[in-house]
Order: sequence, then C-alpha cells, then structure tokens
Amino acid sequence: MCGIVGYIGHRNAVPILVKGLEHLEYRGYDSAGIACLNLEKENLFIKKEKGKLSELKRELEKHPAYAQIGIGHTRWATHGEPSKLNAHPHVDDKSKIILVHNGIIENHSDLKRELQAKGHRFFSGTDTEVAVNLIASYYKKNNFVEAFRKAISRLQGFYAFVALDKSDPDTLYVFKRSNPLVIGLGKGENFVASDTPALLPFTSDVVFLEDDEYAVLTKDKVKIFSLATGRMIKRHSTRIKWNMAQAQKGGYPHFMLKEIYEQPTVLQEAFNRITNKEDVIRFENMTPRIENRLRKIRKVFMVSCGTAYHAGLTGCLWMEQNAGIPSEARVSSEFRYQKPIVTKNDLVILITQSGETADTLAALREAKTHGAMTLAVVNVLGSTIAREADYTIYTHAGPEIGVASTKAYTAQLVTLVFLSLYMARIKKTLSSRQIAGYLDSIRKLPKACSKALKQSTAIINCAKHQYRRHSFLYIGRGVNFPVALEGALKLKEISYAHAHGYAAGEMKHGPIALIDKNQPVICIAPHSKTRDKMLSNVEEIRARKGIVIAIGTENDKELKKISSYFIPVPKVDESLSAIIAVIPLQLFAYHVAVLNRRDVDQPRNLAKSVTVE
Ligand code: G6P
Repeated sequence: MCGIVGYIGHRNAVPILVKGLEHLEYRGYDSAGIACLNLEKENLFIKKEKGKLSELKRELEKHPAYAQIGIGHTRWATHGEPSKLNAHPHVDDKSKIILVHNGIIENHSDLKRELQAKGHRFFSGTDTEVAVNLIASYYKKNNFVEAFRKAISRLQGFYAFVALDKSDPDTLYVFKRSNPLVIGLGKGENFVASDTPALLPFTSDVVFLEDDEYAVLTKDKVKIFSLATGRMIKRHSTRIKWNMAQAQKGGYPHFMLKEIYEQPTVLQEAFNRITNKEDVIRFENMTPRIENRLRKIRKVFMVSCGTAYHAGLTGCLWMEQNAGIPSEARVSSEFRYQKPIVTKNDLVILITQSGETADTLAALREAKTHGAMTLAVVNVLGSTIAREADYTIYTHAGPEIGVASTKAYTAQLVTLVFLSLYMARIKKTLSSRQIAGYLDSIRKLPKACSKALKQSTAIINCAKHQYRRHSFLYIGRGVNFPVALEGALKLKEISYAHAHGYAAGEMKHGPIALIDKNQPVICIAPHSKTRDKMLSNVEEIRARKGIVIAIGTENDKELKKISSYFIPVPKVDESLSAIIAVIPLQLFAYHVAVLNRRDVDQPRNLAKSVTVE
C-alpha cells in the first residue's frame, strides 16, 4: 500500500514524479503529494492534496514548479485519516529532512514520546512524521547516511523510504525492508519507485533493492549498501520486458475492462510458453534438483490472499485430482499465525499477483522456518516473494492495473493446472496419454474465453435490470465453488453491493432463508457431474421467487428455461470450466459497477498491493 517515487537528473522532476505516481495510484489514492528541492533558489517546494492524484495535478497546474530532484507519494491511510495534513511527503520540525514512506513503523508511539521529550513537535497523525524526526534527531555534521542508518536501526516494522536532505540537493536516499523498491537507471538521471510500471515511461533498466539495503542516488551513480555492514554491494541491472502500451488503457474506458479482454491472449501465451510440440510441460529455470525435491513432496499448501486465494482453492482440487497429492488452500493471514503443521516433505505454494502482499510474504517466511519447499506463483518480476521463494513460476500476465484482479487470476489458474499436470508426470499419477488429452482441453481455452467474452450484451442487459440491488448470492459446486467466491468478491470490490459466495450444497443450511423476489442468485452451473444438482438448487430458488442469473453451457436449454437470465459459456472440460465460468462474472461485476457510477479501477478503501498486515 502507498506508492513512492523519486527522481534525480537533468529534467524537471515534477512531471516525472507525477507520471510515476499515475502508475502507482493502484497502491492507494486517498491523498498524494510531492516535494522537490530547487537547486537555483535553494528552496523546498512541497505540494500535497487530499483525494486522488488528479487533485494534486490540478494544484500543480496552478502552482508550477521546476526542480531536478524530488520525491512523491500516493497514500493508502494506515496511521492518521486521509487528509492533506497526513499526506506525504513529511518533514521534520525544522524542515531539514523530507521523507516519503510505504509501510508501518510499529514502535512509532514509543519513539514519538521519546522525541517529544526532547522537544520535537508533531503536526500529523502519521508514523512517517516520527521516522523523519528520528532521522533529524541523529543528523549531525551533514552526515545524512549516518543519521539514516541510526534511525533505521531503531524503526521496527516493514517499510520503504525515499528521503531528501535539504542541505544536499544532489542526492536521493532510499531504503527497503520488506516493502518493495525498484531503482530505474537512466543516462544522467536515476529513478526510484515502489513498482516497475512507474519507471517504464523513462527506463527499462532496473535494479531491485533487497531487504535491509539502502541506496544513495545521484544523477550519475547508484550505490547500494548493506545496512548491517555499511559495505557497498554490486548488483546487476535487469531489463524489464513489459512495454508501456501494456500499462495503458489502449482505448478501453477502464483498465479492468482492458484486462478482462486480455485474458484469451494471457491463456494462449501461457500455453505456448509452458508446453512444447511434444506435449511436454516445462517451467522456466526448472532444474533436476528442484524436480527431485518436487518428486518427494507429500503434501501441498496453497497460501494466498483475496483473488489469489480463490485461485489456490481451485489449484488444490487440481493438485489432488491430477497429482494425487493431499492439498490445502489457506488464507495467508491465517496460515502465518496458525502454527501450521508443515514439514520438510511439504510444498508451500505462494500465489500472488504483486509478489509483495505482506501476509503472503510472512507465510512464505513461516513455511521456510519449517523447512518446507516454497514455490511462488507470481506475476510481478523481481518482487520480494518471487526472489525469496525456493522456486518461482511467473504467470506473465503483464501489468495488471485495475485493483480488482482479472487476468492475473486466470493466469494463476492456468499456471496451477499446468503445475498439477507437471506434478502428475513426475509422480506418475497420470500417463503421458492422459496428460496429452488434458493439454488438448487446455489448448481450447483461449478460444472458449474469447467466445465467453462475446456475451457482453446479455450481461449488460442483466446488469441493467439488477444493478440497484444491494445483495447478491453466488453459488457453485466443485471447481465452480471457488468461482462463486471469486464472482462475489469481484462484485463487492467494485460495486460495493453485498455479495456472498456459497457452495451450492450449503444453500439449505442458511442462505436459502434470504431468498425472496428481490434476491438475485448467480448460479454457476456449466456442464459437469453436478450440473443436475445445480438445477435442483435453481428450482429451489425459483420456488421461493428468487431471481436466477444462470451461467450455463451454451446449449443447456433446460437451465435456460428455468432461469430469469441465462448467460451461455462454451463447453470445455469440466475441471477447466472454472477458467471460463469466471469471465461472465467479471463482466457482470464490471457493468454493475459502471451503472452505479463507481470508480472501477480504484474502488474506495482498497489498494492493489497490500503491503501492510
Ligand atoms: C488485494 C487486491 C486483490 C488481490 C489481493 C492479493 O486485496 O485488491 O486484487 O487479490 O490483494 O494480492 P496479491 O498481489 O498477493 O495477489
């Protein structure tokens, strides 16, 4: 949560910081601000506004500034309400040091008392102001690095900083502990940001900072040091292959819609990347040693948050059915505190779009303390979880900007189904012929996905009739039970309607009491072993005058007849139907949100990357 940027170079920092923040707004958007040091006039320029970045931009148009060094921030409030006062950057009470911060300083109350006793004054409700005053309290003889290091050694928690020293307008200081920071390398200029999309408009060459490292950036040099030893660290740069077009809307009104429509391509690219002509599944950077370890795995945990957790639920079904390995999906925030019974014979799979989710990262570290093998399924290249796991499979869905995850989810699903087949091969639970048959079904997914996307007219029609309702139920069975959870999550995230996903068989144990003529129920009932059972659920809802919105296989006349709305999806292999059935649910959530005039890409109170507990 929160996005931070920094620039030093030969150009005007202001538009560069603003452009960077535009690409980080998905991380939080309740206030934004920038601070620059104007070399010629030797003064500090700070502008902050409550609300979205657009508010700050409006102010910057009225009060233009020019500087060649600056830092910026877009906030998701943790300590202190969203307000101009609490917006970053923050300065110490003598305005010597300027800081933007992502994360939480856990011991901020104690430190604040200590600093107050020494005479420091505080104006905001943030933990950041404590950090910047602490740095200032150690600042002597213009030695910023020493002050920075001393302060960091006392600041508990997980955080990333970008700081300016007013008396030294030629240097940017950055530090990372658990929260992400990427340095962008330019010619006569350097950049830093919470995430790579903020750097892509300016450079593709990046250096990832590791935990407990700080860096000193001038316009011509980037020097990285270990906090513990103070020694300089050599780090090679990485070239990012994502391009700018991928990080723009490309004619769509919202990123979310664009990302929904990118799913056939994401599925096709996953297929091309992971399989070869001989129907062999290959993952990048797989080694015989890793394969050997995977062969010995007795149990799998899939640990993740939000949408990624729903991918994990489906992934576990595939892992059990295909590879015969007992598998459990767990929510990261629970797993990390549950004292999980995990052994060195277990595989803990961390599923995460951002690769930075605080609870998933903590779960990864917890799994490692038990000696388990850790495997990350991650979208963002070079992210912390990708780097810390024993082995990482990238989902390569491209940048996902909409806060509500869509293409990253289908990319996770298809990766997990491939992984289950890979495990099936090395565990010899499926024959080559069976795997080849399965791959034939996966091959058909991109086309089926394109076809499912063609139903938008029927979906918009249904949304137009139902968008004012305050409560929606979603039900499904088997692989489509997690789809019900995901459909409900999508709707509540972006439309703010109450939505609840249920295993259809549980209807009679509670949710059926909700059914009346005003209650829409989204029934996910594509062709499957349990399709008839789903039809019985539909009848039960009808008998109580509920509104049935059915997702069914395209020729399912019987289901169509008993439903208030019928959204057809193409027939695919039953176990893969989850990857297709979710498409109309994403579109439904999108259109309900648009009709309700919600901010689809940046829904209230949410952030895409949850880097605090
Ligand atoms: C946030 C996002 C969700 C995402 C979840 C997990 O809640 O809004 O879209 O599913 O975090 O994020 P991760 O990056 O770990 O997949």
